[in-house]
Amino acid sequence: MHLLSSAALVWLLAQGAAAQNCQAVTGRFQPKVGQGYKVNAIATGLRSPRHIVVDTAGNLLVAEGGSGSVKRLVLTENNGNVCVKSSSAITAAQTTNHGIALSADGKTLFTSNNNNVYAFPYNPDTGAVGTAKTIITGMNNGGTHPTRAIFASKASPDTILVARGANNNIDTTTAQQSTGRGIIKSFSISATSGTAAQYASGGQVLAWGLRNIVGMGEHPGDGGVWSVENSLDDTRLNGRDVHNENPAEKLNYHGMLNSTNNPRKGLNFGYPSCFPAWNTQLLGIAGIKVGDLFNPDAVPRATDCASRATGRLHFPAHTAPLDVKFNANGTRAYVAFHGSWNRQPADGYRVMRFDFKDGQPVETPQSTTASIPVMENTNVGACPGACFRPVGLDFDKKGRLFVSSDSSGEIYVINNA
Ligand SMILES: *[C@@H]1O[C@H](CO)[C@@H](O)[C@H](O)[C@H]1NC(C)=O
Ligand SMILES: *[C@@H]1O[C@H](CO)[C@@H](O)[C@H](O)[C@H]1NC(C)=O
Repeated sequence: MHLLSSAALVWLLAQGAAAQNCQAVTGRFQPKVGQGYKVNAIATGLRSPRHIVVDTAGNLLVAEGGSGSVKRLVLTENNGNVCVKSSSAITAAQTTNHGIALSADGKTLFTSNNNNVYAFPYNPDTGAVGTAKTIITGMNNGGTHPTRAIFASKASPDTILVARGANNNIDTTTAQQSTGRGIIKSFSISATSGTAAQYASGGQVLAWGLRNIVGMGEHPGDGGVWSVENSLDDTRLNGRDVHNENPAEKLNYHGMLNSTNNPRKGLNFGYPSCFPAWNTQLLGIAGIKVGDLFNPDAVPRATDCASRATGRLHFPAHTAPLDVKFNANGTRAYVAFHGSWNRQPADGYRVMRFDFKDGQPVETPQSTTASIPVMENTNVGACPGACFRPVGLDFDKKGRLFVSSDSSGEIYVINNA
């Protein structure tokens, strides 16, 4: 006879249930994993997860795409592997379509949709969310480029950055700063907490002449701000189709927000006239190097492309970088590439690493070999149909890097990042 006491039986059942609620999840598409990394899926079945942020209690907040809400994934560990214990929506529908951020103290949750940025009081211990306040408004582009990437600075805790893309592939009105499109602006969080700021007239211009900035990050060492940009589709030059390999996507450097004299504040990066070269041979412009700005067909003519601000690193055309985040000691930047639709064969659909030293990339702006593989689809030819599509990135305090994939509804974790 080996009867268990009923209390012991209840305990055993509870353990079994907890373990079942927090098991390793099988991802829909087995990634090809870069040397030294370990990648696991931790959640499936989410609705188009876009940007993500780890809160001060170590749980993961996920902004849904579409007209979604914020999901809070309570994380725990099972045999040393991080896993999801429970998941719940903490904001109403239509409070986000992509952007999410937490204040430096972790107690204010920011979300964005195509028109507004909202601030919610947030309790990281309970997940309780208070009433939303609209802090920035007037960003609707009428359909095209509906995401508004937001980033709450840690180096300047009263500053939130908000990016708004152009309203078309070629949006000629962005040549005027006052349209408030194709731009990154910084806003004082305290100054907007009373009355919402109008995006176009409010805040300060951090950078402009940017087609579509979808992700931003801050270097943990010096507080330098970085953004990833999605560049022009269907590019032609001198009547020739050069779009398959041009222009480059890029990583832009914007200097330090807390500097009283940031020489990179307010720089124009060239859009809608000037675009960075990727395949220089295909362009056939004498002496042009990767990242140099050229003036393609069908965009406003410009003779001053050489004097506009350029990217600090360049990526293959149409690979669609959607986020950039740094590891804790600032030696590595990770970029999520959502993947192409405007080229053959497909490209992107991966997370890559770029090594940094003293707050800057180790590689030059002309480099075409700066990226180090981390997490790739095994068969990019099957993309976008049968692939994961990386969107958002964030690290937790243990150095684990979380990655969302919107099309497959998944969250992955990258260890040893
Ligand atoms: C700006 O922030 C960075 C990172 O927190 C810090 O190292 C630096 O000293 C700050 N600079 C100023 C001028 O406050
Ligand atoms: C920085 O952190 C990474 C892990 O993110 C680690 O591999 C590397 O050795 C660290 N480098 C330094 C200089 O501490």
